[in-house]
Amino acid sequence: MSKIYIKDLKNYVGQEVTLSGWLYNKRSSGKLRFLILRDGSGYLQCVVFKNNVSEEVFELSDKLSQESSFTVTGTVKDEQRGSGGVELDVKSIELISAAHDYPITPKEHGIEFLLDRRHLWLRSSRQVAIMKVRHRIIKAVRDFFDDRDFTLMDAPILTPSACEGTSTLFETEYFDLGKAYLTQSGQLYAEAGALALGKVYTFGPTFRAEKSKTRRHLTEFWMVEPEVAFNNLDDDMDLAEEFLEYIVQTVLKDCKEELKTLERDITKLETVKRPLPRISYDEAVEILRKNGIDFEWGNDLGGTDETIISNQFDRPVMVHRYPSEVKAFYMKRDPENPKVALAVDVLAPEGYGEIIGGSQREDNLDLLLERIEKHNLRQEDFDWYLDLRRFGSVPHAGFGLGIERTVGWICGLEHVRETIPFPRMIYRNTP
Ligand code: 4AD
Ligand code: MG
Repeated sequence: MSKIYIKDLKNYVGQEVTLSGWLYNKRSSGKLRFLILRDGSGYLQCVVFKNNVSEEVFELSDKLSQESSFTVTGTVKDEQRGSGGVELDVKSIELISAAHDYPITPKEHGIEFLLDRRHLWLRSSRQVAIMKVRHRIIKAVRDFFDDRDFTLMDAPILTPSACEGTSTLFETEYFDLGKAYLTQSGQLYAEAGALALGKVYTFGPTFRAEKSKTRRHLTEFWMVEPEVAFNNLDDDMDLAEEFLEYIVQTVLKDCKEELKTLERDITKLETVKRPLPRISYDEAVEILRKNGIDFEWGNDLGGTDETIISNQFDRPVMVHRYPSEVKAFYMKRDPENPKVALAVDVLAPEGYGEIIGGSQREDNLDLLLERIEKHNLRQEDFDWYLDLRRFGSVPHAGFGLGIERTVGWICGLEHVRETIPFPRMIYRNTP
């Protein structure tokens, strides 16, 4: 017999069912015990009435402690006030395993206390909601590209060189071959893929030995990176805005309950529709200066700068053509103004900062060689990558979207540490 889950109980009104799960909460009133069962799919109020059950079952329902696992049998009843519109009239209960002194009680706990117990904290309703939204976002990401004839191409995690600057590399010994590095980005491999398959995306964990302790930085995070042959910067921005609209509108449609649990103000998400505003870095600098920031042209935008800029808009804003000096070696310089790179960062609203970084790639062999030298990178490390410019080079562009920052923004969270099951940060690598 197939198992029955709480989320499907609307289809079983009037019927007797058996479910298994954990005790989330309970209260009592006279001869009644109200047990809140959670099974991962939802929450169910199980009503135990003393006159309807055996003495043992009533005693058990009295003793059942938070997070104890049990199986319950009863009749499903319509109950508009219950979550999911139903409740269970209990006939019997069977204990699976008692939990003693579960450390995470309904009272408030400090963040370090919770992070130390992340393996248990994940059971709380807020964390469950976040994980469901994360899952829906990841599925939307894959659906979006799969439906548009992109091929998923996995990039290696152990790599021989840096992609996003040498200051954030995690290194490890690699047998007799010297050092290997945990990948910062699958992009260089995605470029090889784009020249083989036209439209590809990589999707996997990426690593940055970030010394920054901010609410936006993890040392291990997931990134999706599309790369398209024959796309220029404008095409890249078209793809990015269509992609963001799709993700946000899909979550709004499919995660209503979760967003409610998270008390997310969804009016702030409903506006995420094309076209997204596009401003140049120069225009961004203007905005900063108008807001009293003494900003020097040529600097990278900091977190506070990004917040000021994004606060001007009710949806994500695309900032393009950054000074090439502050951007990665592979970005193509604007032929009309070589001081700037054909780069784009997408800044999320409400101060969530950069969620997408992308660019048109330098497709000219000599210019790319020049950039590699300028960035003090070793040419031999990139010899395979340079082959992509030696053999049928074409214009191409792509971007990377950080999953955790996207989850944080859509869920309206304070910090990215809650957006991933087991966060890795500069001061934390457990549990
Ligand atoms: O802007 P980044 O560094 O771009 C790249 O890695 C390019 N190779 C992408 C490409 O063009 N294919 O990173 C892209 C995104 C950022 O916008 C941000 O969302 C996320 O990855 N990100 C981080 N998320 C959490 N913690 C960190 N330390 C992050 N660093 C980047
Ligand atoms: Mg970036």
